[in-house]
Amino acid sequence: MLAGKRILLIIGGGIAAFKSLELIRRLREQGATVTPVLTRAAEEFVTPLSASALAAEKVYRDLFDLTDEAEMGHIELSRAADLIVVAPATADLMARMAGGLANDLATTLLLATDKPVLIAPAMNVRMWEHPATQRNLATLLGDGIAIIGPNEGDMACGEYGPGRMAEPDEIVGAVSGALAQGPLAGRHVLVTSGPTHEPIDPVRYIANRSSGAQGTAIARALAARGAHVTFVTGPADVPPPAGVDVIRVATAAEMLEAVQQALPADCAVFAAAVADWRVSTASASKIKKKKGALPVLEFAENPDILAHVAGMKRGRPALVVGFAAETDDVAANATAKRLRKGCDWIVANDVSPETGIMGGDENAVTLITPDGSDDWPRMSKDQVANRLAGLIAEALG
Ligand code: CTP
Repeated sequence: MLAGKRILLIIGGGIAAFKSLELIRRLREQGATVTPVLTRAAEEFVTPLSASALAAEKVYRDLFDLTDEAEMGHIELSRAADLIVVAPATADLMARMAGGLANDLATTLLLATDKPVLIAPAMNVRMWEHPATQRNLATLLGDGIAIIGPNEGDMACGEYGPGRMAEPDEIVGAVSGALAQGPLAGRHVLVTSGPTHEPIDPVRYIANRSSGAQGTAIARALAARGAHVTFVTGPADVPPPAGVDVIRVATAAEMLEAVQQALPADCAVFAAAVADWRVSTASASKIKKKKGALPVLEFAENPDILAHVAGMKRGRPALVVGFAAETDDVAANATAKRLRKGCDWIVANDVSPETGIMGGDENAVTLITPDGSDDWPRMSKDQVANRLAGLIAEALG
């Protein structure tokens, strides 16, 4: 996803700096070259040697090193990158950036650059909520600086609230977004994927055979075209793609909640195989085996996430795409399903066991739109995903 991209990673002096070492690894896994810059305070938390070993690049620490003629100048260093990432961006670093200071190598590079900048703030919750930090944040956003996080959670200092640095994977997603080019750049697309698990008791659940492969391929294809993708996934067999915001859920109710949180979006693709029913008599403790007495499960209907979003009066995505897993009369059933659910397009597929589609690498789909239906030849799930992502990009213009 980031092949050939050069990232200048400024590591600030906060406890979250240890996560920036993992970030270097993740960025390199995606093909990026990472040049680390450490502030003096950062060196109290991570060593230049660790950063340099993980990046396989020289680490820059001192402004006056760069005045040596043999060295790359600070102007050159600040512009050789495609993107500057500041992680962790401490309260102090944000204040110096907002004030336009250039009193060390990190701030000099940030002032000298003409490249996009992404910050991942990390600090104590009270420091984050302080009016001074919020003022600096507003200035930085006004200057066009992109931000990821901070997340809410337990803090190293023992307090709870917003201030935790975004996780390395989330930062990689934001980096891809900041560098995104392609027909879907600037668009937000929501994708649901995978099966849901509906609990019977704490150790047992009802599931289905969805591997999450098709939804994952679609999310990857959309991200590759520059979309910012929120990927809401049930417990799938395949790992989520890189460069997307991943929200993991287990049940249909959790999936609906995550989808509502992720909206608004320009387009939503519902590739998840959502359980139609949950066990209404689910037990909070493990159901014990009793001789001669078989358990009886009662069911309740799950919310229909696709129908809910397709029917939204306000804030409905411009394009809502559903899937129809069928075993009989595929096109006819899927055409009726499109109307019943109120979505714009339906991708229908035959999931009869003999097709090997569920859990397999290939898919044979029929795309149903208001204009009619189009049978696509059997192809890999990646090819289906690319073709669909191309059509989505066209439709969103
Ligand atoms: N879907 C959903 N929420 C549900 C059930 C289904 O969002 N509770 C979505 C799926 O992600 C898919 C589409 O609805 O995009 C159709 O799913 P499918 O299982 O084929 O349809 P059902 O509504 O379950 O109809 P049936 O089982 O009767 O074929």
